[in-house]
Amino acid sequence: MRTPIIAGNWKMHKNVGEAVEMVRMLDERVADSPVEVVICAPFTSLSALSALGLGKVKLGAQNMFYADQGAYTGEISASMLEDVGCEYVILGHSERREIFKEDDELINKKVLKALEANLKPILCVGETLAQRKAGETETVVVAQTTQGLAGVSADQIEKVVVAYEPIWAIGTGETSNGDDANQVIASIRQTIGKLFGSELAEKVRIQYGGSVKPSNINEFMGQPEIDGALVGGASLKVEDFVGIIKY
Ligand code: 13P
Repeated sequence: MRTPIIAGNWKMHKNVGEAVEMVRMLDERVADSPVEVVICAPFTSLSALSALGLGKVKLGAQNMFYADQGAYTGEISASMLEDVGCEYVILGHSERREIFKEDDELINKKVLKALEANLKPILCVGETLAQRKAGETETVVVAQTTQGLAGVSADQIEKVVVAYEPIWAIGTGETSNGDDANQVIASIRQTIGKLFGSELAEKVRIQYGGSVKPSNINEFMGQPEIDGALVGGASLKVEDFVGIIKY
């Protein structure tokens, strides 16, 4: 049985005070949840959140660089994230791929470094609207999954979470339907099965992301292949995010 994992990706929202206020409330409200709960906050809030000594909520970052240290102005290393109490790190989010021109090779280096540093990567994959219309969804996500996981070892793969986020569903209010998302996620699992064997692939958690809300979470969590959600906008308000976690 895979433990469901629901993660909030706050993107570039909330200052330290706002982050602390929300996560303190969230940690109390979801204390008894059987679901693994993660907040991926901006770098600037991570230390303060970690200092709260959270019971249930785990911390994640939204990006990192693959080098250990050095002259990389503006970048943050895996060990720095570990040091401030992160357990997870989102890698290859479509906004990183599109706005910051990250490619699969770079994302793969980050995945490998995160695992080496004992961080659990949340590897994001997903197609654009044009790719979906051209019938290329599976080809795109299979390629992103294969390239993102290149060089990952069999003992590491269970620590990886994959998030399927169709780009056209992010922040648009449009969602994939449960059946469609389930089918794409099944093909991601099959890809992991080809790389690592089906027994290990059955252990890897794969989330859906893209306009997830309290009103549509059940449609996704009711699907056999979907193990959780990566939530943007609806993770910024405690009521909405609690509603999703208590689907
Ligand atoms: P929204 O939930 O706001 O559509 O964002 C999804 C996302 O990009 C999570 O990483």
